[in-house]
Amino acid sequence: MVRPALGVLVLAVALGLAGCAWDGPMSTVAPRSDVARAIHGVYAIITWATVGIALVVFVGLGWVLWRYRARPGVGPVSQTRGHSLLEIAWTVAPALVLLVIAIPTIQVIFRTQGAAMPPNALEVTVRGWQWWWEFRYPALDVVTANELHLPRGRAVVLNLEGPDVIHSFWVPQLGGKRDVIPGRLNRITLVPEQSGEYWGQCAEFCGTSHANMGLRVVVEEPEAFERWVAAQRTPPAEPSGLAAEGQALYARSACVGCHAIRGVSAGVIGPDLTHFASRDLFGAGMWPVTEERVIAWLKDPPRLKPGAKMPNLNLTDAEARALTAYLLSLE
Ligand code: CUA
Repeated sequence: MVRPALGVLVLAVALGLAGCAWDGPMSTVAPRSDVARAIHGVYAIITWATVGIALVVFVGLGWVLWRYRARPGVGPVSQTRGHSLLEIAWTVAPALVLLVIAIPTIQVIFRTQGAAMPPNALEVTVRGWQWWWEFRYPALDVVTANELHLPRGRAVVLNLEGPDVIHSFWVPQLGGKRDVIPGRLNRITLVPEQSGEYWGQCAEFCGTSHANMGLRVVVEEPEAFERWVAAQRTPPAEPSGLAAEGQALYARSACVGCHAIRGVSAGVIGPDLTHFASRDLFGAGMWPVTEERVIAWLKDPPRLKPGAKMPNLNLTDAEARALTAYLLSLE
């Protein structure tokens, strides 16, 4: 009876561990910014201290169990009551352990509060909406959604604002979670240290599509970032053909009430679409920007993303295709 149960347990643990990846897209143990490294440092101290303590405790426990096990012909061992040295030892030792953990923890807590504004920092306003992310670069006159571009090696100040409910901004490889709270300005200051793509996720339950509130951070070399900024500042090309039909449809539909497209509409409660097709994913990290996916989305947003504020506009197939052609022209 014990053998099969043990086999099942080992198999379950093995399968569970198989899901772990050291350097996966949302790894918490592969830091890629100064702040993430500092947090990881505390994590490492606590983990190794715990491993050391566990070894001492379990080896000690095992030894006692073995040494004083019941044996025929051996009576109960002598009992000790009130041992001052032992009492002092097991009071002082945990206090020392807490001290070792507390000092770096408190240092890192202060460091991650982002109170001081580093010189030459790039400021980005991050707004968590049900259920997508807005990124505004006030000094650069750039607005985008769900895909945050940052230059490598430059300090970034993320000012977190919540226009609706509480969300939590979390990009594990770049730093710790921080809540996005209506009426309060929270801040994350960090320096991305390695170019690459990092995944993030809203980490505070915020309604029906909380799980569908992902984001992507693209950290790139400063020159590539400058090119991206220049492209984002350029108005999209004038559409032609089917895309022009789509633009006309867009301009006379409910779309304009929520979305901004530079020179066309100025809605503020949905993602800015000026350079929609420059992004790899849409729907807050849900789908690749492809014709098929965009058409499917336009036909029935709340079905694909439960609770989505964008209503089903009852578009015909032809209308959805024209709108999609327009959106895909916005590079
Ligand atoms: Cu936003 Cu959960």
